Amino acid sequence: MPVQVGGSKVADPRPARVVDLSPVGDRSRASSKKNRRRHKKADAASSISPMQRLFDTSREVFANSYPGFVPPPDAVARLSGLLNELKPRDVRVAPSMSVFKHADPTSPPPFGIFCLPKSAIIPLHNHPGMTVFSKILFGSMHLKSYDWAKSLPAGSNDNALENSDGAGARLAKVNTDAVFDASSETVVLYPENGGNLHCFTALTPCAVLDVMGPPYNRAQGRDCAYYSESPYSCAGDAQYSWLKEVHSTFEMEGIKMEPNFIV
Ligand SMILES: [Fe+2]
Repeated sequence: MPVQVGGSKVADPRPARVVDLSPVGDRSRASSKKNRRRHKKADAASSISPMQRLFDTSREVFANSYPGFVPPPDAVARLSGLLNELKPRDVRVAPSMSVFKHADPTSPPPFGIFCLPKSAIIPLHNHPGMTVFSKILFGSMHLKSYDWAKSLPAGSNDNALENSDGAGARLAKVNTDAVFDASSETVVLYPENGGNLHCFTALTPCAVLDVMGPPYNRAQGRDCAYYSESPYSCAGDAQYSWLKEVHSTFEMEGIKMEPNFIV
């Protein structure tokens, strides 16, 4: 039976020393029992699929999300780390697929995997009040993203962030304009920065997995909107564009993701 050595009532910051005084036979039986328990625990942990782990972590990260919610840095790092390790076989996608796979919408957080053939485009769209993690699983794609401009660029002749010609365009600043592939780390966009509006162009057959929260909500005025871009002429500054909301017919065949997660 373990016995705690000491008994001083003086506060001691060191952890109490514990000595096992049980007979050696009992001790070895107890220790092999302990080992079995430890192995059982390790086996259980290793039998959790990468997607289940991702699902559990995502659900935890977005558990109390609300429009404008930004996960704390350690949660962003944890979720990004899991996504960085994810392989196409973990989500059962292949370059021959052209489909949008999604998790059960009744079990947030929303997951989506876009499998795109070469040259396919996901048009410029927004994620109102959302944080989105995106990881390329295979292939390569060009990503261009924007955030709404908060001030006019230096040297601008305009005096407003909205176009004065009545066209309803709003000024946005480029966040990212680059090519990503499976070796790239997870890209994270936030409600106000990180490229909340983005478009993808598949340079090869490719797949991107998105984890996002809180979900789009049309009833709350947070539906997905699509935009056209036109250049902002300010001393040739290519870092800004006018974005105007447009009707889009973009659609992909959607299928429910398998396997079902344990929730
Ligand atoms: Fe998106």
